[in-house]
Amino acid sequence: MVRSGSAFILRRPAAIVPSKQWSKRYTATRVYQYDWAALSTVFALNAGTYVTSVHECFADILRRCSSRRKAELIKVHLIAAARPNFMKVAPLYHALKATDWAQPLLVHTGQHYDYNMSDAILKDLRVPEPDFHLGVGSGSHAEQTGGVMIAYEKVCEADRPDWIVVVGDVNSTAACALVGAKLWIPVIHLEAGLRSRDRRMPEEINRLVTDAIADVLWTPSPDADENLRAEGVDDSKIERIGNIMIDSFEMLRDIIEQANMPGELGLTPGRYALVTLHRPSNVDAPETLGPIVDALLGAADELPVVFVAHPRTIKGLETFDLKDTLTSNANVRLLEPIPYVRFMSLVTGTGVVITDSGGLQEETTYLGIPCLTLRENTERPVTVTMGTNKLVEAESLGRNLAIVLDGKWHQGERPPLWDGNTAARAVECLEKRVGSRGGRPTP
Ligand code: UD1
Repeated sequence: MVRSGSAFILRRPAAIVPSKQWSKRYTATRVYQYDWAALSTVFALNAGTYVTSVHECFADILRRCSSRRKAELIKVHLIAAARPNFMKVAPLYHALKATDWAQPLLVHTGQHYDYNMSDAILKDLRVPEPDFHLGVGSGSHAEQTGGVMIAYEKVCEADRPDWIVVVGDVNSTAACALVGAKLWIPVIHLEAGLRSRDRRMPEEINRLVTDAIADVLWTPSPDADENLRAEGVDDSKIERIGNIMIDSFEMLRDIIEQANMPGELGLTPGRYALVTLHRPSNVDAPETLGPIVDALLGAADELPVVFVAHPRTIKGLETFDLKDTLTSNANVRLLEPIPYVRFMSLVTGTGVVITDSGGLQEETTYLGIPCLTLRENTERPVTVTMGTNKLVEAESLGRNLAIVLDGKWHQGERPPLWDGNTAARAVECLEKRVGSRGGRPTP
């Protein structure tokens, strides 16, 4: 054996075989199949007969060993589509990534596509670029649902995930659950069992469809378990893991606290109201949006109002000539969507939230912030029974705001398992179902 540069040359008397050829030979024979155990055998078989660079040989073997391990990992597709999905998917992505048995792959359906409604949030949540982007965009419910199904079916057929995790209740949630169920790929619904009992809401239809066909139902609260049982779901499918949005908040709490959005906007912490609205039932018609704008102007007489508006809402305000009415009041700040950290900085600093969002009802309950929800019902009743939430109408907003400003709002408490450890519980549950590491899924 002679040394040439950094390479060790193994000499064979009859011929000199180039190292690449050697690589190809062991690739084709043993190392790929038997991995490290085979390494010594291959060396023993070939010592003195082939020429190689030991460095190259080891690098290649390491590469092959790691790609072999990858091939054995349990492949989990995490479906993210719209703004509220990202903070549910991110903690699970990070928790699965940290295991040595799962390979999480992010599938972005493209239901939300504006930078601040999508990419900026994923960046805040430290999630890398999606592995698959379906680019479906906006459309009618049928167009959006059908578009996601057509595109995702192709991804599933090409990539064959072991599991699919769908989150929340948006159109893409139901669409991807349908694709998985029909291809016999086990589907998990994260945030299962929530019910508003209002089938006029597209989200309620999505929840019912998804829960009916999912193999595993990860719920956030006892009411969700009860809803599922009442619909005849077998107990073996239901696993209460808690509220995963809280994990995202806790993961970024320090950064959120440093962001100081209230200061940036010249607001005094605790002395402003934060508003978000986007439900079609509130913002798609002048008969509903008009009285809400009047109620917000009333609130602006009491304290500064920061309205972070969804594109749908801005469109409604413009179409019904309400935007100028609202913004002409110096105490109202109308902002376009902002990313997660900056938005949560506004939430943690506010004295009261006025909203129709599902996620904000939960976040305010967790943070102990009074929440006035402009809806007739909620699929998250625990935020009312245990938390700081109350359902209100435009007409009763002022009255309820006065209670908040008087400091007489109920304190509330955090529901069990809303503790920042939900992703860890989810991973534990999944690992149990996967069975022995490297085994096939057992839904
Ligand atoms: C969707 C979800 C809703 C969720 C909400 C969070 C469904 C049925 N609805 O409602 O459950 O609470 O997301 O925001 O899945 N648009 C943009 N840029 C975007 C996305 C949307 O301008 O990035 C505009 C488009 O004009 C679009 C409209 O907003 O038509 C509504 O978007 P869409 O995704 O259809 O529903 P959301 O109201 O966002």
